Amino acid sequence: MNSGFLRTLLDDASRPFYGSGRFAYHYSRGKLSSDCIFREVLKRGIFPAEARFLDLGCGQGSLFAWLLAARKLYEQGQWPSDWAAPPKPLSLRGVELMQKDVERAARAFGPDHPVVSIRQGDMCETDFGRADVVTILDALHYIDHARQRDVLARIRAALPPGGLFLTRVGDAGAGLQYHLCNWVDHAVTFVRGHRLPALYGRKLAEWVDLLRSLGFRVESLPMSEGKPFANIMLVARVPV
Ligand SMILES: C[S@@+](CC[C@H](N)C(=O)[O-])C[C@H]1O[C@@H](n2cnc3c(N)ncnc32)[C@H](O)[C@@H]1O
Repeated sequence: MNSGFLRTLLDDASRPFYGSGRFAYHYSRGKLSSDCIFREVLKRGIFPAEARFLDLGCGQGSLFAWLLAARKLYEQGQWPSDWAAPPKPLSLRGVELMQKDVERAARAFGPDHPVVSIRQGDMCETDFGRADVVTILDALHYIDHARQRDVLARIRAALPPGGLFLTRVGDAGAGLQYHLCNWVDHAVTFVRGHRLPALYGRKLAEWVDLLRSLGFRVESLPMSEGKPFANIMLVARVPV
C-alpha cells in the first residue's frame, strides 16, 4: 500500500487536534495510525456515497476528522486507485458522555463547522433523530444488556431502508484475547482520566442474533489486526 498516501491522510486527520492540546493530538494520531478499522472501512467501501452520520460514544471525534480528511484528499485527486471512493459526509453528529472529550472536539472542529456537531450526552437517553449511518466504535460494552438492546432498537428506528449500523465489539466467547482487550480498555480509560467502568460483553453469536432480531442483515469481520484482541466489526444493514 502507498505509505506516502497513508501518511498524508494521517497528518491531515490529526491536524485539527493540534489546537486541542498535546494529549488530544497524540491520542488521535496514535489511534488513527494503529487501529486498522479506520483504514479498513475506507478501503472496503463500507459507507454509502453520501450520508448523514451519527457516531455514539464518539470520544473527541477522531472518526469524523478521518472521514473529512479522506474526502478532501479524494476531491483533490489524491486517492489510491484500489480503494473505494470515501463517503461525502452531509452531516457528522456525535454524542459523547465525557465533557472533557466534547471540549477537545469543540476546539478541534470549532463552533461553526459546516457539518460537524458533537455534543455531550448519554446514548441511552439522547434522541437520535434521523441518520443514514450510525456508528458505535468500542463503546457499546459500557452500557448494560437491557440498555444495549434499547439503544440498538432506537438505532434501527433512526435508519432508513438501506441504512447502515457499523459497530465494533469484543467477542466474549474468545477467552484470553477478550480478557486482554478488556484489561487494555480499563488502562486506556484510566489514562484518559475517567473512572474504571463495568463492562458488559456478549459472545459474537449473541451480538449477531440480537441485531438480526431487530431486523438488521449482519456481516461480521475480525478487526484486531496486529493486536492480540477479540475485536469484531459488525456491519448491520437495514434491508431495502
Ligand atoms: C473506547 S472509547 C472510543 C471512542 C471513539 N468511539 C473512538 O473510536 O475513538 C469509548 C467512548 O464511549 C464513551 N461512552 C461510554 N458510555 C457512553 C454513553 N452511555 N453515552 C455516550 N458515550 C459513552 C466513552 O466516554 C468513550 O469516549
